[in-house]
Amino acid sequence: MTVGAEWRHCAECGSTSDLARAWALDADAPAPDGAVVTADMQTKGRGRRGASWQATAGENLLMTVVLRPNYPVSGAWRLGYVAALAVADALSELGLSPALKWPNDVLLNGNKTCGVLVESVSLPNGEWAAILGIGVNVNQSEFPDAENYVYPPTSLRLASGRVFAMDEVRERVWEWLERWEDIHRSAGDFDPIAVGWRRYLAVGAKVRRGGETAELQEIETDGGARVRRSDGTFTVWRTVDG
Ligand code: BTN
Repeated sequence: MTVGAEWRHCAECGSTSDLARAWALDADAPAPDGAVVTADMQTKGRGRRGASWQATAGENLLMTVVLRPNYPVSGAWRLGYVAALAVADALSELGLSPALKWPNDVLLNGNKTCGVLVESVSLPNGEWAAILGIGVNVNQSEFPDAENYVYPPTSLRLASGRVFAMDEVRERVWEWLERWEDIHRSAGDFDPIAVGWRRYLAVGAKVRRGGETAELQEIETDGGARVRRSDGTFTVWRTVDG
């Protein structure tokens, strides 16, 4: 699988994930495995759990990858972890020190610089496709509505004081996504992704589920988060909803 083997870019769109979904469903020329849609700006960017995804025009990486995995749709959740790990490796290669926060966020200096949204679509031929949306804050230097975010936002630029070439960030994310998804498909399970995640795990970071906040301790081999609750007890959260 080659991420970006086919690539469509739009200056402005509603959501790259909507365009990617429509492409996957295109009866004449459906998006192949690894096809990508990017945008300079989205007017209806969306995040997890109904949130919107705000990003200043031209300053961030906004992309959705269509994947046609060889495993059943019940494994789609693992792609959120695959994508976050790929971004962490890409940022690390760029000289940054990323950390991963359950379930799918990439942090720099404790603040969120990347979010991942996994969706899926059933195709007319009975197969399924993953619609893997990835937003990386690259050069944005101001986040005017920061108080409205659940986790404070940051960008590669704010975290490092450097301006990044968007092409380079994008290419590295594509390369790592390709590598990790190939490993994931060959393994057929979550184990190598869990091992990769542990290298970057944001131990002690505040994680939320429902109305509860706890401290992240470990990532389980099924993708669950082992957390320390405010009363000092430990438990495993397997879903993000309470
Ligand atoms: C999150 O809530 O953390 C996930 C955010 C995902 C944002 C990306 S930006 C590109 C793609 N298009 C969207 O509308 N959302 C995803």
